[in-house]
Amino acid sequence: MANEQYTTIKPLTSPLEGTVKVPGDKSISHRAVLLSAMAEGVSNLEGVLDSEDVRSSITAVEALGAKVELSVAEDGSLEGSIEGWGNAGPSQPDHEIDCGNSGTTARLLMGIIAPWDIEVTLTGDDSLKRRPMRRNTAPLMKMGARFKPAEADHLPITEIGNRALRAITYDAPMASAQLKTAVLLAGVFANGTTTLNEPAPSRNHTELMLPEFGVPTTAGTRVASVSGLTQMHASDIKVPGDPSSAAFIAVAAILKRGSDVTIENVSLNPARIGFVRTLERMGASIEERRTGAEGKEPSGTIHVSYSPSLHGCEVPSQHFASIIDEVPVLALVAAHAKGVTVFRGVAELRAKESDRLQAIIDGLEILGIDAWEEGDNLFVEGDPNLVVNSGLRFESHGDHRLAMTWSLVGLCGCAPVEVADFESVSVSYPNFLSDIEGLAN
Ligand code: S3P
Repeated sequence: MANEQYTTIKPLTSPLEGTVKVPGDKSISHRAVLLSAMAEGVSNLEGVLDSEDVRSSITAVEALGAKVELSVAEDGSLEGSIEGWGNAGPSQPDHEIDCGNSGTTARLLMGIIAPWDIEVTLTGDDSLKRRPMRRNTAPLMKMGARFKPAEADHLPITEIGNRALRAITYDAPMASAQLKTAVLLAGVFANGTTTLNEPAPSRNHTELMLPEFGVPTTAGTRVASVSGLTQMHASDIKVPGDPSSAAFIAVAAILKRGSDVTIENVSLNPARIGFVRTLERMGASIEERRTGAEGKEPSGTIHVSYSPSLHGCEVPSQHFASIIDEVPVLALVAAHAKGVTVFRGVAELRAKESDRLQAIIDGLEILGIDAWEEGDNLFVEGDPNLVVNSGLRFESHGDHRLAMTWSLVGLCGCAPVEVADFESVSVSYPNFLSDIEGLAN
């Protein structure tokens, strides 16, 4: 990238100790905002993540006619109400909708727009414009929505909704919660039962939340259905902490000598805490404890401490969806482990906010660690005696999860590192650095 800004990340001077509460879950926050906007009446929301991605969803639903009254609470989350467009449907926006960096906003909106008589152009930043969209437009076209250009795989794309949407049964080519959710949200307003089958279980927040808004929903391990036509009614949603953000704190504690941390009020949805299982299998000292639930989302604490004897492990492709956003930071742990770690079936990483597969291999090479791709699999040959040299410079490609991953090299090692476009952390975890530094005081 031409105009990259580098941030120097210095080593923490003491271990991480104490308790921390991570910000609200990004996936659940998007859904709370979007489903409230679709529903009839006023929904009350608490604990919503205040980040650039969620703000993209908020701006989008405002452009479509929802009345959003969310403000920043004492703990930094967003709370307040959203009055949805409900049975009247969304209004025709007078400009294109910019989804920023947020794939979730763009892909879920495609399902939301599909059943209404409006024509909406969706666009995004340079990263989002490079990400595949045909996976979403294909099933929505089968349901009767139209797209211009019809064959487009990349934003900007104009969607033309259809009041007479058809219910479908769709076999998704990949496990993607964004694809599944778009089809289910369109299906709420299609006559009949819309069913989505997926090759492996993806995160199920939509299936758990739709019944709270009055939508008859059934869900199995690799299948979910909604019955339409339904009228959605308002609901009250409390968003638990984000396990994907918790993963960065957990890895910091695992790598920084002497650390012992408890992360509170995290979503413990099994579809999201694959990283805990993987870290356990690598010999890390980490365990979760369920203490309650927010709606149908299980929540609790994660306790994690410094883990000096890590070993490589094999992560089968069936587990990929449950660690999809954590592979970069897990690859960094693998770099510190004895032996080879294999992440199977990870080709989808190429279609994230950046080409994360290549970025992991390149970043680990800077660290002096051998990592390579073979078939759809990522191999990392770890070194338990890894020493971080001074002067290392990492590219984040403007990708929040890469920025946080490489910053952990500096924070937990003995030499400062430079990370390009570190500010991208504001996409999902704006207070990442201050939360980690707060634990090391
Ligand atoms: C998300 C689903 C996942 C995940 C993304 C958020 C969601 O993407 O990587 O960060 O909120 O539905 P895919 O649907 O592409 O797997």
